[in-house]
Amino acid sequence: MINNRRRFLEVCTDAVVALLGACIAVPALAYVFAPARRWTGKKGTGEDFQNVGALAQLPIDQWQLVSLQLAQRDGWEKVRIRHGVWVRRSKDLTKIEVLSSICPHLGCPLNWHPDHAEFVCPCHGGVFDIHGGHVAGPPPRPMDPLEYHVENGCLFVRWQDFKVGVAERIPVRT
Ligand code: FES
Repeated sequence: MINNRRRFLEVCTDAVVALLGACIAVPALAYVFAPARRWTGKKGTGEDFQNVGALAQLPIDQWQLVSLQLAQRDGWEKVRIRHGVWVRRSKDLTKIEVLSSICPHLGCPLNWHPDHAEFVCPCHGGVFDIHGGHVAGPPPRPMDPLEYHVENGCLFVRWQDFKVGVAERIPVRT
């Protein structure tokens, strides 16, 4: 009788110890392997389109800076990064232009100067025309267009980083 009771207590103790071990081990393993799992998935490929608002709300034939917010993993940390996007639409909404705000020379943010109808880079004086074409300065290529689509009157844009400092437009993982 006493042996049975002792045996029962031993089994219960082993079960509790195993349960506690699992409670500690499972979250610890998930923490260790989560970044690796995410790096192998869609991470940083920029496959998601983001809604930047109603197309009709954008000013007609004027460049407007909007921002996309992306969640990115930095090592073990999840961080939110904002990217500026220049967008412009025609009056009848049939012509839409979407350009990255990153200068293709070395990555500075490009500013729109409506008085000169130019994009100008504050870092090394790169200049682009009203459609993002290269006009002057060291940038090796035009501004980078971004993919977009319109759904229910809203503009959806997909962020993409490109390699800077090269003439060819090469997408890069972020
Ligand atoms: S970073 Fe824009 S011209 Fe150099």
